[in-house]
Amino acid sequence: MEKKFIIAIDGPAGAGKSTIAKLVAKKLGIIYIDTGAMYRAITYKCLLSGIDLRFLSEDDYESNSLISDIIEIAKNTEINFYGDSIYVDEKNKDDEIRSSEVTKNVSGVSKIKEVREIMVLLQRDITQKSSALLDGRDIGTVVFPNADYKFFLTAEVSERARRRYNQLLEKGIEVDFDSLVDEIRARDEQDMNRKVSPLKKASDAIEVDSTNMSIQEVVDFITKTVLEGSGRNV
Ligand code: DC
Repeated sequence: MEKKFIIAIDGPAGAGKSTIAKLVAKKLGIIYIDTGAMYRAITYKCLLSGIDLRFLSEDDYESNSLISDIIEIAKNTEINFYGDSIYVDEKNKDDEIRSSEVTKNVSGVSKIKEVREIMVLLQRDITQKSSALLDGRDIGTVVFPNADYKFFLTAEVSERARRRYNQLLEKGIEVDFDSLVDEIRARDEQDMNRKVSPLKKASDAIEVDSTNMSIQEVVDFITKTVLEGSGRNV
């Protein structure tokens, strides 16, 4: 496989995108870009600068003067990926961007049109020279509408919450399962109903429902599809 190619994996929160994307990229020997981590990085920096992001869940958020501060932060943040790690202004922030404070506020930040424009340019720039796999919400629809391979990864809400619950438990964090279900539903709702680049399946994406599939099964399916070229959009 010599020609440069792009793989897009989109889907809702907790469908296993990043775990699967990392493994597929490794198998194919191409770079992996976690675009959700980029929106998380901007959210993290806004919180660090003391911006109260709660206004983003209000209907008239666009008229709030804090929006321009957030856009400024997005413009002035350097984001790099080294291997599977994210560096924000040259510092590794893998853990910080996954805090519950960032998780709660990231959907709000990702609604801002100008923030999205900056992130999309960066995503196209990072992948200009080499084959890449990107995961997110709008990769197959907006960032790379002509991606060579597109997948839409889903799973039932209860299964997504169960996986997240187990992940947190492994880290020694015990949370209320029902609150997790509510949090995932709320993020789905925000991501699917926002005005700019809402989460939606590209018409030419292959849908993979992972509710009853193991990680390995999903990885094998995607890798096989790519290697056989059967899902190629030409
Ligand atoms: O995949 P994740 O949970 O790390 O994503 C965090 C948030 O970023 C998610 O709530 C929606 C947003 N996001 C987005 O709007 N567009 C993307 N391409 C990736 C993520």
